[in-house]
Amino acid sequence: MTERIETLITKEEIEKRIDALAEQIMKDYAGEEIYMVCVLKGGIFFMVDLARKINGPVLFDFMVVSSYGSGTESSGHIMIKKDLDGNIEGKNVLIVEDIIDSGNTLNQLRSFLLTRNPASFKICTILDKPSRRTVDVPVDYVGFEIPDEFVVGYGLDYDQRYRNLDYIGVVRFDD
Ligand code: IMP
Ligand code: MG
Repeated sequence: MTERIETLITKEEIEKRIDALAEQIMKDYAGEEIYMVCVLKGGIFFMVDLARKINGPVLFDFMVVSSYGSGTESSGHIMIKKDLDGNIEGKNVLIVEDIIDSGNTLNQLRSFLLTRNPASFKICTILDKPSRRTVDVPVDYVGFEIPDEFVVGYGLDYDQRYRNLDYIGVVRFDD
């Protein structure tokens, strides 16, 4: 069985979309400092590319989160493997994610971080699979809505591989 990657979103399309998202974010934050939180590892390229397009004050922080418990249970709890370095109280937190699938991870992360009283809390994701949503989580900025396909590249992995692709593709298995 061989694996191949079928392009879904090109490098140029990603760049163009990030330009538009950065414009919108700059307009919305109007020069206020943005406390960007990258959810590792998937959100890494998106955060750096987006931040470079924002002309204004931006801080970086990182989290590592994993879900555990029954895979079918939408209320399965998340485990914080690496917490934020900084204090977000009174900050304008912008979560930068790779993809929202069931919404479970982000929904729990959101409740967890809101207890620390940020001034504002928004979520930005490069990809969204709305058809897979089981938990309603408010998402403020979406790069692309995609169908229910397993995608890789631009930070996203299949068994830790393909994160370094500069485009987003669907994994296909041919035999
Ligand atoms: P959920 O929204 O809690 O279901 O989990 C989303 C997480 O699952 C993402 O942050 C990814 O790490 C992973 N994930 C979901 N869909 C894909 C995909 O198509 N490719 C790679 N990772 C995915
Ligand atoms: Mg992720």
